[in-house]
Amino acid sequence: MCAALGHNHPRIVQALQESAETLIHSHMTMFNDREIILASRLAEITPDGLNRSMFLGSGSDSNEAAMAIAKRYTGGYEVASPVVSFHGMTDAARAVTFSGWRQGYGPFAPGNYPIIAPYRYRCSFCQDKGACDYTCLDTSFELLDAQADGRMAAVITEPLFSAGGVIEPPPGWLQELKLRCEWRGMLLILDEAQTGLAKLGSMWAFEQEGVVPDIFTISKHFGGGIAISATITTDEIEEKAVETGLVVAHSHSNDPLTCNAAIASLDIILEESLVDVADRIGRYWQGHLLRLKERHELVGDVRGRGLLQGIEFVTNRETREPAYEQGQRIGRMLLENGLIVSIRRQGSVLRLVPPFTTTEDQMDLAAEILDAAIGAVT
Ligand SMILES: Cc1ncc(COP(=O)(O)O)c(C=O)c1O
Repeated sequence: MCAALGHNHPRIVQALQESAETLIHSHMTMFNDREIILASRLAEITPDGLNRSMFLGSGSDSNEAAMAIAKRYTGGYEVASPVVSFHGMTDAARAVTFSGWRQGYGPFAPGNYPIIAPYRYRCSFCQDKGACDYTCLDTSFELLDAQADGRMAAVITEPLFSAGGVIEPPPGWLQELKLRCEWRGMLLILDEAQTGLAKLGSMWAFEQEGVVPDIFTISKHFGGGIAISATITTDEIEEKAVETGLVVAHSHSNDPLTCNAAIASLDIILEESLVDVADRIGRYWQGHLLRLKERHELVGDVRGRGLLQGIEFVTNRETREPAYEQGQRIGRMLLENGLIVSIRRQGSVLRLVPPFTTTEDQMDLAAEILDAAIGAVT
């Protein structure tokens, strides 16, 4: 997922060489030209008004920064996130990660709450209905309102849940979530680590939902393989957070080397029209996945779009009993046959994230390997 642009892209290598010959590191309290150029380049591709970026090193710390900003801006400290979310493994990011990797790290700071996931395939409110009627959100906010210790700071969510099982919220869910945040003076933070920078066939996943977040974060392939992330927000939010004394920085947050790699990755994303590439690959690949669903009863659901898609295995399509053990066996067979996928939800979901460099021949071969493995297990 971090190598989505391909390993060692020549433009990234060139950017690293330039920085190696000029300046690798610069003190975090001083601006360097690479950082300023990167911020202005990002502002050209973010929605109007979301002009302010801060650079960090990982997805986790970009989310921590986003939550710190929301706390400073609202004066609240409580944050909610859907139960299928993944936001990272630093303490504050893990505290709003509910899809796993949570138990056994001692108590988290107070004020982190799960909300019901918009998981239509398994939703007890709406899986039998024609559409989601947002009962999940109303119920979640009723519980949040009852628990909150005052004005809550934010909801943080992925626009399409990746690690939690490639779960696509139903149409309108993100807009309804934003409304409920606005009514309460809470901010909406979108974690676009897995979905942003062209991955889903648009520059940002939130564009496809008709929602503009208050803060959003990017990481993964942002540096073309080099570790850099960003937290992006509006002038108003940034100014108030700074006035109230916000400090978020790490020794290597804004190094010219990492910022230069990110400038190069933006060049690649724009010049190689990766939005269109993701759309094309996504449609072709989804065709394969839908054919697999026709051929194999074990495939209960095909989800996702662009470069982030998944299939869910069930032992029975009517009862939707998750096929954990079969999925784990399939995952092992795929690896033995040269296809790297990630196994989610204890085996019942395969997450498939091809890079932008994937060819149709490779997708045909991947589909053959998948077909054989599913066939062998059933
Ligand atoms: C949606 C999302 N947010 C945050 C993270 C954490 O990023 P990092 O591992 O760079 O801290 C990940 C990592 O997989 C992720 O998928």
